[in-house]
Amino acid sequence: MEKDYGKYFAPSLKEARKRIKKEIEKIKFSFPEHLRQFGKDKKYLIKTFGCQANEADSEKMAGILHRLGFTEADNESEADLILLNTCAIRETAENRTFGELGRLKGFKMHNPDLLLGVCGCMPQEERVFNLIKEKYPHIDLVFGTHNIHKLGEYLYDAYLNKEKVAEVFSEEGKVVEGIPTKRAHDRKAWVNIMYGCDEFCTYCIVPYTRGRERSRSPEDIISEVRELAELGYQEVTLLGQNVNAYGKDLNIDYTFADLLLELREIAIPRIRFTTSHPHDLDDETIYALAKGGNLMPHLHLPVQSGSNKILKKMNRKYTREEYLEKIRMLRKHVPGISITTDIIVAFPGETDEDFKETLSLVREADFEGAFTFIFSPREGTPAAKYPDDLDPGVKKERLLALNKLVNEGYLRGNKRFEGKTVKVLVDGPSQKNPHLLSGYTEHNKLVNFPGDKNLIGKIVDVKVEKAYTWHLRGIISKSHS
Ligand code: SAH
Ligand code: SF4
Ligand code: F3S
Repeated sequence: MEKDYGKYFAPSLKEARKRIKKEIEKIKFSFPEHLRQFGKDKKYLIKTFGCQANEADSEKMAGILHRLGFTEADNESEADLILLNTCAIRETAENRTFGELGRLKGFKMHNPDLLLGVCGCMPQEERVFNLIKEKYPHIDLVFGTHNIHKLGEYLYDAYLNKEKVAEVFSEEGKVVEGIPTKRAHDRKAWVNIMYGCDEFCTYCIVPYTRGRERSRSPEDIISEVRELAELGYQEVTLLGQNVNAYGKDLNIDYTFADLLLELREIAIPRIRFTTSHPHDLDDETIYALAKGGNLMPHLHLPVQSGSNKILKKMNRKYTREEYLEKIRMLRKHVPGISITTDIIVAFPGETDEDFKETLSLVREADFEGAFTFIFSPREGTPAAKYPDDLDPGVKKERLLALNKLVNEGYLRGNKRFEGKTVKVLVDGPSQKNPHLLSGYTEHNKLVNFPGDKNLIGKIVDVKVEKAYTWHLRGIISKSHS
């Protein structure tokens, strides 16, 4: 008979919505001695869905697992532990995960000792949590975004006490420092600068799944970046749902622009960040970017819609005109900057006129890329209750029309580099053609070029010969080490 969950703590969206302005608790990760090495001879696999925040969390979970003595499995069949780090942003993301959960049941039949866990943003939703408990009895371990640092204890309970564990906290969240990290790359690294989100865009589940906006201290961030520089890392990407709000929750006079200026002094070739919110993007940040150096000339600035009526219903706190003014400022102070965005089509109440305003904004802003989505209602968010009577065919048509325009922007953005020499951080063999190397330019353009594998991890000069919609093709002109 299936064991019931021994340890059990369920989420609540109502609790998750609360914001009590008390001081954020900062805790230092510590590793209970009795857990050391109990994962010896065991192999793990983490499958990550969702955004960079999840990728960074997966690296922390991997770090904890290695401390426990686990090693990484090459495939699912040799794994003793499979963790799905999930994303709740849209229904399609969730459906993919449910498909995986069903499929992994088969592995459990072949290997009854296999431990299956679900973590990340999906279990933070009551509906999903209950569904997993009721319909997926083969899942042994469920936890959320607030308690990855307790992974070792959960595994101990699951393996040694042979009980199922389901513990999801709906809380504002803490800042946990010192979690061991096993990074996926040895030249590019994620660095969390803040967690959570207080924006409450009406369509978005993230403020519920990730808790209150809370910043790490500048000292902790700077020392992590310094350490990465010393280890030979070439690029860090600073992570937060709304990096421009960095520092607002700290009791010190210190902003995101201050952080950028301090990081600019560190000997690491490239600093990027994601994601910016137009409402909080201030002039100081633009002036910091204008200083260049290791601050890369690319900004991802999600606009979501070009219609003021829809922006208001989304609770984005800026108008189309204000957004375009920020773009104008950016282009004035950071000449040649590449600007990309996120756009949602078919938000409830979006008329043809509203949609046309989105298209015209895309033209005016001259984006060089965009992630585009059809609105997906998320239970518990205000927009899920807005009347939505648009025909699914119309929603798809709008997405296609938008993508066509966006793709022209991708091509235009690439074309401007034809004939130029660009600096490329070499990631590895190209995914499409293993005989070529590939990497990204300072403006975040993908470049493929022939070259020796010993260039991987280095920044090299590449002469761009031809621009396509999704990539540039070039030849090496000279390499740096
Ligand atoms: N914090 C970031 C990223 C949030 S999620 C930001 O604010 O930019 C990434 C993108 O997913 C969002 O920018 C938005 O375009 C899209 N998105 C979020 N919720 C969505 C929903 N319910 N339906 C469709 N797209 C959504
Ligand atoms: Fe979601 Fe808005 Fe926060 Fe981004 S800023 S995570 S879209 S609520
Ligand atoms: Fe998805 Fe959670 Fe990121 S919902 S987009 S993984 S914050």
